[in-house]
Amino acid sequence: MRDANPQTIYLKDYTVPEYLIDSVELNFTLDDENTQVISRLTMRRNPASQSVGKSLTLSGENLKLLRVNLNDGDDLTAVDYQQTADSLVINEVPQDQRFVLTIENQINPKANTALEGLYLSNGMLCTQCEAEGFRKITYYLDRPDVMARFRTTIIADKNRYPVLLSNGNKIGHGELSENRHWVTWEDPFDKPCYLFALVAGQLHYVEGSFITQSGRNISLQIFVEPHDLDKCDHALQSLKNAMRWDEDVYGREYDLDLYMIVAVSHFNMGAMENKGLNVFNTKYVLARPDTATDSDYEHIEGVIGHEYFHNWTGNRITCRDWFQLSLKEGFTVFRDQEFTGDRTSKAVKRIEDVNMLRTRQFAEDAGPLAHPIRPDSYIEINNFYTLTVYEKGAEIVRMIHTLLGTEDFRKGSDLYFQRHDGQAVTCDDFVKAMEDANDVDLAQFRRWYSQAGTPVLKVQQHYEPTGQTLTLTIAQSCPPTPGQPIKEPLHIPVKVGLINRDGSTASCQLKGTDQASDELTLSVTEAEQSFTFEGLAQQPVVSLLRGFSAPVKLAMDYSLEELAFLLSHDSDTFNRWEAGQQLAGAIITGLIEDCQSGRDMRLDPIIVEAFRKVLEQPWDDLSYFSLLLDLPSETYLAEQMQVVDVEAIHKAWEFVKRTLAQQLQPQFQALYQTNHRDESGQFDAGAIGRRRIKNICLSYLSKLENVDIQSWAEQQFKTARNMTDQMAALATIVNNPHPAAKQCLVDFYQQWRDEALVIDKWFALQASSPMPGTFATVQALMTHDAFDLKNPNRVRSLIGAFSQANQLHFHAANGQGYQFLADQIIALNTINPQVASRMLSALTQWRRYDESRQALMRAQLERIMGTENISKDVYEVASKSLA
Ligand code: TRP
Ligand code: ZN
Repeated sequence: MRDANPQTIYLKDYTVPEYLIDSVELNFTLDDENTQVISRLTMRRNPASQSVGKSLTLSGENLKLLRVNLNDGDDLTAVDYQQTADSLVINEVPQDQRFVLTIENQINPKANTALEGLYLSNGMLCTQCEAEGFRKITYYLDRPDVMARFRTTIIADKNRYPVLLSNGNKIGHGELSENRHWVTWEDPFDKPCYLFALVAGQLHYVEGSFITQSGRNISLQIFVEPHDLDKCDHALQSLKNAMRWDEDVYGREYDLDLYMIVAVSHFNMGAMENKGLNVFNTKYVLARPDTATDSDYEHIEGVIGHEYFHNWTGNRITCRDWFQLSLKEGFTVFRDQEFTGDRTSKAVKRIEDVNMLRTRQFAEDAGPLAHPIRPDSYIEINNFYTLTVYEKGAEIVRMIHTLLGTEDFRKGSDLYFQRHDGQAVTCDDFVKAMEDANDVDLAQFRRWYSQAGTPVLKVQQHYEPTGQTLTLTIAQSCPPTPGQPIKEPLHIPVKVGLINRDGSTASCQLKGTDQASDELTLSVTEAEQSFTFEGLAQQPVVSLLRGFSAPVKLAMDYSLEELAFLLSHDSDTFNRWEAGQQLAGAIITGLIEDCQSGRDMRLDPIIVEAFRKVLEQPWDDLSYFSLLLDLPSETYLAEQMQVVDVEAIHKAWEFVKRTLAQQLQPQFQALYQTNHRDESGQFDAGAIGRRRIKNICLSYLSKLENVDIQSWAEQQFKTARNMTDQMAALATIVNNPHPAAKQCLVDFYQQWRDEALVIDKWFALQASSPMPGTFATVQALMTHDAFDLKNPNRVRSLIGAFSQANQLHFHAANGQGYQFLADQIIALNTINPQVASRMLSALTQWRRYDESRQALMRAQLERIMGTENISKDVYEVASKSLA
C-alpha cells in the first residue's frame, strides 16, 4: 500500500512557468545500460510570471545525477541544490539575465520496462516522451508551455548503433575513437520536450519524396528492422496521401525537409507525433497483403495521417497544459476521420467511428471514470488518453463543423493557425478562433468541454392533419457523473430529414421561415424545445440525428415497421444503417428477455424480410452493404442493458444469427460464391468490398454447422493469399464447433511464427473465442514461449482481448476471469504501469453486472488496491472505480 495518497493536479491551479528555456543542447553517449546525458539549458525568468523567489525547480525521475553547473563556473555543490524523488531544486539562479544551466546524468534504458523515457526494444534504443517521459531522460521544465529550440548530439558504437536519429535536420556527423561515431541534429522549430525523440539502432529504411504545394521537395523515410523492409510500401503511400490531403483540405504544408517514421515493436500506444521523427507501433506501419488485413491497411493509413496532421494540430500549435489534451487530440482525430472517409467510404467510416464511440466511449462516460473532454483534475495524466478525450473530443469538433458548414469551419481553422502558430494554447482559444472568424456565439456550446456524460434526447412527434404540420418536441437531459450532479442544457445540432410514405423526400420547412430544404440542422439549446414543420400533406417518417450529428443517445419511439421502412428508404447512409441496428437491437432485446424468463425464442419474421430486402438489392459500396448485414455487437447490446446478462445476450445473439442464416441460406451462399475470388489482397475498394461481403456471409453460414460450409471455410483458410481471407476463415473455424479448429491453429502458428503482428492475431483470436474451454486456453497461452508480459502488443492481444472482447468467458459466474485479470494487472503494475492501468478497464464497469459478479469484481479491485508499490496509474483507476 502507498504511504500517502498520490497528489491530484487541478486545472484551476494553472500558473504560467516561472522560467523559460530558449534553447537546449543535448548530448547523449549511448549504452544499453548506462547512457550518459549532458543537457545545456539556456534559460531566463519568465516576465509574465507573478511568482517571487529565486529558486528553480526542474522535474526528473529515476535519474542518476552526476553534475550541475551554472554559467560555466565551478560546479555547484550539494549545498546549492536539493534532489527529491521527482525534482531538482537549484537554490538560486540569476533573475535579471539569461543563464546557462548544465546538467549531467545517467540513465539505464535496458531496465526501462515502462517504455517511457529512453528504452530498449528488440535491440533498438528509442524514446517516448509524451506526456511526461522527458523527465526520465534528464532534469527539465517538463510541461508543454515551455517551448525551446533543440540541438541534439548522439555518440554511439558504429556497429551496435549505425543509425542515429533525432528531430529536425542532420547538421553534422563524424567518426570518433574506439569505433564510435557521432551525429548532430537540429530542430529549427521551438517545441515542448514531449515532442523530443531519439532513435538508435540497426535500422534500414525505405525512402520516398513529396513535392509540396509550394514546390518544396521533402524526403520521406521509414525506418524498420531489416526483415520488415518489404512491409513499408503502404505506410509510405499513406504518408504521401496525408500530406496531399492536408494541403487540399486545410491549406497546411509540411515545414521541414525531412519526415522520418520509425516502427518499434514495444510501444504503449499507437504512435507518437515527435517533430520530424514520428515513432510508431509496428502495428501501424507494417503491412503486406499476406500479413495484414484490409482493416489493418485502413488503420495504418489513418494513424499515419493522424500523426502527420499533428504537425499543425499539436506541434506548430501545442497545448498550454495537459488538461487541454483534446485541443490537439480531438481535432486531430476529427481530421484523420475525415481523411479516411475521403480515402475510402465516408458512409462506412462514419458508421465504424460511431459504433466505436457508442460501445466504448458511452460506457466510459456512464462509468466511474467519466470526465469531460477537458478534465478538471487528474492524478496521472497517462490515464487521460481516453476515448472521451480522443473520440468524444473529435465529435465536439465535428459538431462545430456541422454548425458552421465546411467553408466557415475552414475560415475558423485558418484563423486558428494564423493566430496561434508557435504557441501553446487552450481549447478555449480554438473555439474563440471559430467564433471570431465567423462572428458567431459559441458560449453555450462551450459546455461540451466542461460537462461529462452522454446527453439523452427524448423526442416526441405530433402530426396535425388540418394545419398540415408536424411538431417535434425535443427534451434533453444528462445523467449525473462523478463530481457533476447537475447538468446544464447543451447546444446540440440535430440534423433531420422527412420521408414520405412512398419513400420520396418530403421537404423540411420550419414554421415562420419560407425556406424549404431536403434536410435541416436544428439547434437544440433548451431543456425542452419544439420545432414545427409545415406544408406536410401527409405524415412523414422522421429521420433524426442524421449522420449522428451529436454524441447523444436518441430516445424516440419507432415501431419495427418504421425501422424496416427507414432501412429501405432513408437517403442518409448513417441513419439507414442505424435503422437496421435499431430493428435488430429491439428484436434481440426481446429475445434476451425470453431467454431470461425461460421462454422459447422465436424470430420475428420482420427482420428476416428486412434482411432479405437488403440482400436482394444491388449495391455499389459492398463494404456499406456488409455493414447493413452486421448485427449489433454483444458489447453494444450490453451497453443498452440495465443489468448486463452476458449469457442471455450471447444466446439471443447466436440464435438470431443462426436463424437468419437458416432462413436466408441461399442468398448468403450465392453472395459468398460470387464474391469469392482468389485474390492476392489488393488494397482497392472493389477487392476490399468483395472480401468484406463474402466474409460476413461466411460468418452467417458457419452458424449452420453444415459439413459443406465447414469445408469451404477450411478451404478458404488454406488457400487464401491475403490475411483478410485467411483470418476471416480461421475466425469462423475457431469461433464455432469445427473439427479442424485445433489443427488450423497449429498450422497458422507454424506458417507465421516469425511475423510478430500475425502472432498477435493468433493470440487475440483464441482469447476472444466464445467456445467452451477458452479460459483454459488463455491460461495455457500465458506460458507459451511467444508470450511476453513486457511487450504491450502481446499483452493487449491475450489479456486485453480476453477481458475486453470476450464478455462471455471473462464474466464467468465463478469469477475466475476476474481473478486472472487482477493477477496480470498486479504483475504489470511494476513492469509497465500505463499498460497495467489500461488493462483495468474491464473491471471498472463492475456496477453494470448482477450482485454476485459485482462482489467478485469489487473484491479483485480491492485486492489490486492493496498491491505493494502500486503505481499512480493503477491507483487512480482502481480507487476511482471503487469510490
Ligand atoms: N500523442 C499520441 C497520439 O495520439 C499518443 C501517445 C503516443 C501517447 N504514445 C503515448 C500518450 C504514450 C501517452 C503515452 O498520436
Ligand atoms: Zn494524437
